[in-house]
Amino acid sequence: MEKRRSRLWLAFAAGLICKSGGACVPPLEGTRLESPRHVLVFKSAPIAVSEHFSLEIAACAKSGAAPESLKVDAHMPEHRHGMNYAPAVKALGPGRWRAEGLLFHMPGKWEFVFEIATAGTTDRLAHPIVLSQFSADEVARILQHGPWPPAARRDPSNRVSGHPEAVALGEKLFFEPRLSGTGSVLCATCHAPFRAFQDGRARAFGLQEVDRNTPSVLNARFYRWYGWDGSHDTLWSQSVRPLLDAREMNASAAHVARAIRELLGVEYQKAFDRPVPEDDEAVLVDVGKALAAFQETLVSGRTPFDEFRDALEKNTVTDYPAAAQRGLKIFIGKGNCSVCHFGPHFTNGEFADTGVPFFAGRGRVDSGRHEGIKRLRSNPHNLLGRFNDDAARSTATGTRHVQLQHRNFGEFRVPGLRNVAQTAPYMHNGSLATLRDVVRHYSELNEERLHADGERVLKPLKLSEGEIEDLVTLLESLSPQADRFR
Ligand code: HEC
Ligand code: HEC
Repeated sequence: MEKRRSRLWLAFAAGLICKSGGACVPPLEGTRLESPRHVLVFKSAPIAVSEHFSLEIAACAKSGAAPESLKVDAHMPEHRHGMNYAPAVKALGPGRWRAEGLLFHMPGKWEFVFEIATAGTTDRLAHPIVLSQFSADEVARILQHGPWPPAARRDPSNRVSGHPEAVALGEKLFFEPRLSGTGSVLCATCHAPFRAFQDGRARAFGLQEVDRNTPSVLNARFYRWYGWDGSHDTLWSQSVRPLLDAREMNASAAHVARAIRELLGVEYQKAFDRPVPEDDEAVLVDVGKALAAFQETLVSGRTPFDEFRDALEKNTVTDYPAAAQRGLKIFIGKGNCSVCHFGPHFTNGEFADTGVPFFAGRGRVDSGRHEGIKRLRSNPHNLLGRFNDDAARSTATGTRHVQLQHRNFGEFRVPGLRNVAQTAPYMHNGSLATLRDVVRHYSELNEERLHADGERVLKPLKLSEGEIEDLVTLLESLSPQADRFR
């Protein structure tokens, strides 16, 4: 309603202006400035230190004659100096210009100044911008870690993905202890909402201790492979796994199907548009699909990093700490972190050996991805099986083509790093207690532990204490809850 009223008002105002010489709406999307007589819009690609850039500009007069000419300049108000280059302003047509040859030779606070001359008078419009210390190449790499949140697409392999009734059923199931064989363990035992959907333990404990650390299920929908070994290819098949594991929930398909029939028959009917079927395994898989629909709604919020990233894209101001910015420079630069922790979710979704020991205790070895591929292939609930609801198998390419290689031994999935400050301890076996320990691990990396045929991306970084703190500060800024950044 509010919107409609203001649109009507705009149309009315535009009508008035039309009578007195044409509507003043510059034909360009960008940063908008206004003086009593003019409206000016300008736009540029992200600006980097010591790189020439140009500005696209459009301007119009609110009444009377159209603007005759435009001058563009910029200076650093605090340093009292301007640019070392005089930009050339080219007229591109009525009310349109391009300013070329601008260059900011140092990071810090700059100010654009536009002078529009119309009918013998000149208006001055100024706009502050803060130039970060990053080069154009670095800015491009930082921008790849957003925008956040990404667009959500429904999962075609799960016919109830995105359906509100299935989300509601999935939420009930996530907190339902009677799904477990003993009636005592629920998903939220290990994926506790108040601990960012994990348990804070080194290794999970349901009915017995498990070999691996519990990952958060926040943002899980953005992975391609699930579990530290990628032994599952969908959120729904991964959600069936703990129900059947004797150490976790120790149930069976028959037990789960009985619990649904007795406790949640009505909710099942609403979510799946059919009565609970006779086939226990079909019910078990549907439980996984409702649980997945619920978990798809668990997406973490915007972080100080996201505010900085978006400001960088628009050349505007944020108070993102200098230490986090220095950490970011290492992360995307000499630290090579973003090679694996890539994109808005800070993971390329694949697997690597980072030299974390993979002994699981008493002569047992966790071979990670090597065993994971075998489990994936033998799982009747994978995307090539009969439970995929997408006849076209459009998301099954990875499952069809994944190749088992010697190097997969000891590889684990690259975890996303959003909220990482909330999910200690770290790594597949919870062997590193703090973020500082993780950064130190990369800094002092034992190359002999890495595969001979493995990553050459990883080298001991030999970071200084200050650099370690900077990387930790960056990692801490990837959580919405990071109050100290507000
Ligand atoms: C005993 C603790 C425990 C319980 C109970 C538990 N989980 Fe987990 N969860 C884990 C562990 C440990 C992993 C990692 C498994 C692996 O790597 O093999 C995991 C992994 C996951 C993942 C994959 C996340 C990722 O990043 O790939 C999802 C999704 C998940 N669990 C959902 C559930 C659901 C749904 C339930 C209830 C039906 C549940 N979990 C019950 C401990 C638990
Ligand atoms: C070669 C790929 C690769 C590179 C490069 C890399 N990582 Fe990782 N990272 C991983 C993998 C794989 C894991 C999980 C290892 C495991 O569990 O055994 C991981 C785990 C982590 C974790 C723990 C997350 C958690 O939830 O347990 C953090 C934090 C982390 N990396 C930060 C960094 C930083 C900072 C850098 C740069 C200094 C970096 N990584 C470079 C692949 C990589």
